[in-house]
Amino acid sequence: MKFSYIEKFFKNKKVLIIGHTGFKGSWLTMCLKILNSKIYGISIDIPTKPSHFSLLGIRNSIKDYRIDIRNYKKLKKKILDIKPDIIFHLAAQSLVKESFINPHKTWTTNLIGTINLLDILKNLNSKKKISAVIITSDKCYKNLNLSKGYKETDLLGDDEPYGASKASAEIAFTSYFQSFFKKKKNIKIATARAGNVIGGGDWSSNRILPDLVRAIKLKKILKIRYPNSTRPWQHVLEPLFGYIFLAYNLHKQNKNNGQSFNFGPKFIKNYKVVELLKEFKKYNNNIQWKVDNSTNTVNEAGLLNLNSDKSYRRLKWKNILNFQDTIKMTSNWYESYFKNYDIKNTTENQITFYIKKLKKKY
Ligand SMILES: NC(=O)c1ccc[n+]([C@@H]2O[C@H](COP(=O)([O-])OP(=O)(O)OC[C@H]3O[C@@H](n4cnc5c(N)ncnc54)[C@H](O)[C@@H]3O)[C@@H](O)[C@H]2O)c1
Repeated sequence: MKFSYIEKFFKNKKVLIIGHTGFKGSWLTMCLKILNSKIYGISIDIPTKPSHFSLLGIRNSIKDYRIDIRNYKKLKKKILDIKPDIIFHLAAQSLVKESFINPHKTWTTNLIGTINLLDILKNLNSKKKISAVIITSDKCYKNLNLSKGYKETDLLGDDEPYGASKASAEIAFTSYFQSFFKKKKNIKIATARAGNVIGGGDWSSNRILPDLVRAIKLKKILKIRYPNSTRPWQHVLEPLFGYIFLAYNLHKQNKNNGQSFNFGPKFIKNYKVVELLKEFKKYNNNIQWKVDNSTNTVNEAGLLNLNSDKSYRRLKWKNILNFQDTIKMTSNWYESYFKNYDIKNTTENQITFYIKKLKKKY
């Protein structure tokens, strides 16, 4: 597959991004702007301050709506008005720690919000073909603390509320697909499960990178909870282009309809939290950290890897940045932010750089 097919496909398509003001959503919005799509965004709020979405200053160049996905009626009305060609559903209560503080909000947003979207699509009578990608998480898997990479067919359902709500969204998706979408010609739908992503513009609380950036800004020592935890670190652009490949693929062929896909880095070496920090220190010598066991109240998984062979095989998707490139791009982005450079420019340049690399591969 050539990347130029994807560029051609997305040009002038109506793309609805649900959760467009969040960390991933704001990057996806910029990627699709560069691919010349017509963008519609639905979100409840801008979740952080500062925020990548606000810094981009793109609110007026897209259709930007504030709707709670738990409100079935309002969500339905807006989707009927928009008549999208492609939907990316990223809206979520996305933080594990917050899911312990507010489990009800986590469950209703992540499960009921997703069911609302599925049900609206089920009842849609449009003749036009729609492809929809529902973003869940690697945390949807039952984490058995094994070193293997979890496959799409592995057991779902972890104990903590965030992972459990994402696993439930996956189960709801499969039920809707088997019971309704399978027979519907106009809706092509799949789920995407990616691991922890990093990149410029994340200010969420209790994520390692934003915590590090806040510590640098305040000239403080970063307290880390799990220094030896490994995560399938990847740059935010990697799974986002995976979602883009998937949406394209759903439109073009039927075999991926109703399927789930993992998007994780190739399983060569796992990097620990401390290794991530050491790599960052190469670009910013002011970084300091210490291990703090007093805040280990949340039972987060220690080990979680994804096996993404299905995405490599069926979608021809691959990670194209190595760990060092990932950290360098992220560090450069925050450097631009600290120096008050034009962030829209920085983000655009990083996406353009990434697309150039993609074009060399495809
Ligand atoms: N960031 C990661 O490392 C990561 C890893 C795995 C999976 N994910 C998943 O990817 C998706 C995006 O993650 P993110 O990091 O950008 O999240 P984020 O918290 O930065 O953004 C969440 C988005 O969802 C919207 N939202 C939240 N509740 C809503 C509601 N009730 N109605 C409408 N909109 C609502 C917010 O306004 C925001 O636009 C989420 O589904 C998340 O679970 C993220």
